[in-house]
Amino acid sequence: MAYNGVALAESAVLLDGPSAGLTVADEAAMYEAGLPAIDGDFAGKDLLVAGQLSDTDLELFFAEADLMGQVDDGPGRIRLLEDKIIARQFFEASTRTDQSFQAAAVALGAGVIGFGPNDGTSQKKGETPQDTVMTMDQYLGRQALSGLHVIRHPERLLVYQAAELASHPVLNAGNGDGEHVTQGMLDVYTMRQKLGEIAGKTVVFYGDMLKGRTVHSTSQLLAKLGVGKMYFVAPDLLQMPEDMLAKLDGLGAKYELTDDIESVISEADVLYRTRLQLERFTDEALEAMPPMGMVTPELLRRARNDVVIMHPFPEDSRNPDFDPAVRLDERFAVWEQTRMGKIARMAILALTLGRPMSGMTQPERQRIMGV
Ligand code: NCD
Repeated sequence: MAYNGVALAESAVLLDGPSAGLTVADEAAMYEAGLPAIDGDFAGKDLLVAGQLSDTDLELFFAEADLMGQVDDGPGRIRLLEDKIIARQFFEASTRTDQSFQAAAVALGAGVIGFGPNDGTSQKKGETPQDTVMTMDQYLGRQALSGLHVIRHPERLLVYQAAELASHPVLNAGNGDGEHVTQGMLDVYTMRQKLGEIAGKTVVFYGDMLKGRTVHSTSQLLAKLGVGKMYFVAPDLLQMPEDMLAKLDGLGAKYELTDDIESVISEADVLYRTRLQLERFTDEALEAMPPMGMVTPELLRRARNDVVIMHPFPEDSRNPDFDPAVRLDERFAVWEQTRMGKIARMAILALTLGRPMSGMTQPERQRIMGV
């Protein structure tokens, strides 16, 4: 990619003054301190990290997602957001996040513009990602709620800078090894659908806790919803980063770090596997990495009969996380989780653009549903 970390660091300086001596996590924390809490109203707000959401915000989201599930079960496509534009900006590869945001926009009648990492934008000519985002911002209409940005970038800080620059809301679709808040929302929505309630349950995360951003967001949201206990299962080199543990401590979360899946699997209400984030490590670091092991039918024999098996996907076929037989296990909930990704993002688009179905009267809702 023509873009490089130096350009980003320089523009961060331009935006925020000198950042000498700060780690990326420190800088992210500074940006995060300035983000608005959702506080019962998603309309027009950037949604970048789990810390912006409270348990009541999540309940609001769940209620909206339930209604979007009815759209998906019923008419499939409605005109709720027909006057809105969604600008997808994927500076990094994606199947589910990008396609589910597009599917959600199409299902609600919105127009979609944007690009993926191989689409030949002028980054190849040295354009900064900030300029790319500002360009897209000019195409979203002049009203604050006429459109929004969906941005994924391999560097952690770009989404915060984009949110400062843009005049339309920014949804974080994954910022490097930081967070993936909309994945966290779809994950906890899926768990709620499968378990009925999250409070008091035990969730076992197993995989790359260090660089896997979905776990960073999902674990915070679970803590807010009163999860009973979380286990983070990984070799030491891949354990949860300090800044994420500090966030969980701040939420009073009960959790344990271990490298031994066998010792905790029997307690799991949810087993949430993640892949090794190969692309975020140097070759030397990868060589030093101990193997993590697969989820096998033997391991699952020690699990509850009703354990919910999840994974944000992709599974790396070169380095699989599941024995192929596990995909046939009736407890394998990944495709359901994938479908919930579209429904969750329908809800997030409607809430952020200020047109939630949960805010409508019953006749209005029936009219928009075409019944
Ligand atoms: C994840 C991501 O991009 O963070 N995928 C996703 O969004 N569903 C997980 C991964 O890449 O391993």
